[in-house]
Amino acid sequence: MVEPTASPTTTYPKARTCPFSVAPEYSRLRAEEPIAKVSMLGGNSAWLVTRHDLVRQVLGDTRLSSDRRRPGFPRFTVNQQNVFQDLPPSMIGMDPPEHTAARRAVLGEFTVRRIEALRPRIQQIVDDRIDEVLAGPRPVDLVAALSLPVPSLVICELLGVPYDDHEFFQQRSSRLVHRSTPFDERVRAVRELRSYLDDLVAAKERELPDDLLGRLARKQLESGGIDHPALVSAAFLLLVAGHETTANMISLGTLALLENPEQRAAIVADPAKTLPAVEELLRYFSIVEGATSRVALEDVEIGGVLVRAGEGVMALVSAANRDPEAFDRPDELDVDRKARHHVAFGFGPHQCLGQNLARMELQVVFDTLFRRLPDLRLAVPVEEVPVKSEATVFGLYELPVTWGEERTC
Ligand code: HEM
Repeated sequence: MVEPTASPTTTYPKARTCPFSVAPEYSRLRAEEPIAKVSMLGGNSAWLVTRHDLVRQVLGDTRLSSDRRRPGFPRFTVNQQNVFQDLPPSMIGMDPPEHTAARRAVLGEFTVRRIEALRPRIQQIVDDRIDEVLAGPRPVDLVAALSLPVPSLVICELLGVPYDDHEFFQQRSSRLVHRSTPFDERVRAVRELRSYLDDLVAAKERELPDDLLGRLARKQLESGGIDHPALVSAAFLLLVAGHETTANMISLGTLALLENPEQRAAIVADPAKTLPAVEELLRYFSIVEGATSRVALEDVEIGGVLVRAGEGVMALVSAANRDPEAFDRPDELDVDRKARHHVAFGFGPHQCLGQNLARMELQVVFDTLFRRLPDLRLAVPVEEVPVKSEATVFGLYELPVTWGEERTC
């Protein structure tokens, strides 16, 4: 086993400037140093893991903790502090046995069967948005018109959060996923969002409506499930994780399919191909960075390197999903590829709880969008599409698109 190298060999993060590729430095690391000491934006260091098999090993190993409050947990924002330090953690920041109990409390809401029952409503939401797009002016920004509202409406209905408040929570969650947001602004965003959800959850506990938060509140009353602060933390996580991620995948997936007309034509001709295409798009873009971080609870050997107790480890799913040992021609988009072993939703005990919902939303959006707007196209050159190069959830700020006849005057 190799003893830890004394000093970091490179820095993290590297900005993603092109929507279709990951930073070349990550590919170099995967080939030469699949677990490497890196220095972070704010100056401290952690281990960066870039190989597919090692990323799965890290994410499956409960000797590596998800508790963001522990010293040594990787921090990659400018200010290095944890805005959630003094708040009750949500499941993403817990370890077993607390994690197992918190996840079990909501797992039943996200089974394949439960999510399948939402399909007609999701189809309706997507159709309504596309009706509006068709009735409005051209070009249109698809991020504002479709990518954000669809997952936002879906998660609001599921949780029982009023959609009329979407601007309030979208603004705050977008501040949280930007590495450059100053610390006091991040704190304010968390405080405002928590206080909003605190009131909302209190109302659910009084009225016990038949929505996800209402059902969890009822469970708490009947059998002592999760208490009020924990329910607020769960609502916070589900609301933020439930729309920001899927919205970015809708935008990026649409862009990729517009840029690859044969692959788009293949899924339009055979809708059975859309779900495998969604898996491939999830692999290809691997939008989540940073959430898959851990801190070692004891000395652990990873890829022949000794990681000491207390050291931070980041499993970089974007690099793992471009590993040539796991995927042939990994830098090519291939909707016919069998990509189910990708790690875009993570791996192991914390693997994304909302993955079935995200898959369905993406499937319904791509099927419906390209069927109803067969001549959809970019309204600007692809190089001008603005990318979120500094965010911990990669995506697009805007996606200007048009359709129909070119206007000549
Ligand atoms: C966890 C990605 C959509 C809820 C995760 C993790 C990843 C991820 C990588 C693992 C974090 C870790 O290992 O610590 C994504 C992507 C999405 C998406 C790429 C969309 C394309 C959603 C949606 C929801 C959701 C729609 C909710 C409705 C969660 C929750 C966790 C999680 C609650 C924490 C699970 C746990 O700690 O046990 N997600 N996610 N996600 N995701 Fe997602």
